[in-house]
Amino acid sequence: MMLKGRVAIVTGAGQGIGRAIAIALAKESAKVVVTDITGKEVETLKEILSLGGEGLALKLDVTVFKNAKRVAEKTYGEFGRIDILVNNAGIFPFKPFIDMTEEDWDKVINVNLKGVFNCTKAVISYMVKQKYGRIINIASIAGTIVGFPQLTHYCASKAGILGFTRALALELAPYGITVNAVAPGLIRTPGTEALGEEMIKQFEKQTPIGRSGKPEEVADIVTFLASNKANYITGALIVIDGGWTLI
Ligand SMILES: NC(=O)c1ccc[n+]([C@@H]2O[C@H](COP(=O)([O-])OP(=O)(O)OC[C@H]3O[C@@H](n4cnc5c(N)ncnc54)[C@H](O)[C@@H]3O)[C@@H](O)[C@H]2O)c1
Repeated sequence: MMLKGRVAIVTGAGQGIGRAIAIALAKESAKVVVTDITGKEVETLKEILSLGGEGLALKLDVTVFKNAKRVAEKTYGEFGRIDILVNNAGIFPFKPFIDMTEEDWDKVINVNLKGVFNCTKAVISYMVKQKYGRIINIASIAGTIVGFPQLTHYCASKAGILGFTRALALELAPYGITVNAVAPGLIRTPGTEALGEEMIKQFEKQTPIGRSGKPEEVADIVTFLASNKANYITGALIVIDGGWTLI
C-alpha cells in the first residue's frame, strides 16, 4: 500500500511497459488513470479492477496538447489530485538516416518528446498547487548512454527526455516535485517483437545477466520512484539493462 491515496496517470498503458506500470502502481493502491491512443487502455483498466484496484481508462494521443489537458482535468475532476505522471508512450520505428524523411523524424519527436512536454505541461499546475508530485519519464539506454543505428530520431528524442528531466528537476524541486528518468535496455514487449527473434537472441547473448528484461521489472523501478521511499532522488537516470551498457 506504498501509494495509498495517490493518483497516477500513465501514458501508453494499453500494452507493454506502460501496462505493467499501471498495474504495478494499482497494486500499491494508487488510483490509476490508464491512457493510450489505441483503446487497449480499457483492457488494462479491466485487469486493475479485477485485482481490486481503482482507476479510469481514457483515450489519449500524447501528441495533442488539448487531449492531455482534458485527461488532466478529468483526472482531477474524478479524484481531486494528480500525484504521479508516468510519461511512457513511445515509438521506435527503425530507419536508416539516409532514408529518413522529415515526416519520419517529426513523428518520433512528436510522440516521444513533444508528448512528454504535453502531458507534463497538462498536469503541472495541479502538482504545484499540491506542493507534491512525481514525474517519471521512460527514456532508454539509446540516446542517453549509447547510440543505436537506424534510430537517430529515437536516440535524439530520448536524449531530449534526459535533458528535460534534469532541467525540470531543478525548477520543480522547491515545489516538492521530483522528476526522474528510467533507461531500460531490451525489455520484451509487443513493441519489441518487431525486432525479430534473431536480433533479440543476439542482444540477450550480449547481456551480462543473460536475458532480456520484463516489463514488470521496469514497473518495479517506477513504483519505487513514485513512492516516498524515493523522496531524495530527483533529476536521476536509472538504468535497467541487465548490465548491457557495462561492456
Ligand atoms: N521495450 C524496450 O526494450 C524498451 C527499451 C527502452 C525504452 N523503452 C521505452 O518504453 C516505452 C514503452 O515501450 P514498449 O516496449 O512497452 O512499447 P509498446 O510498443 O509495446 O507500447 C507502447 C505503447 O505506447 C502507445 N502509443 C504509441 N503512440 C502513442 C501516442 N501518440 N499517444 C499515446 N500512446 C501512444 C502504444 O499504443 C502502445 O500501447 C517507450 O517509451 C519506449 O521507447 C522500451
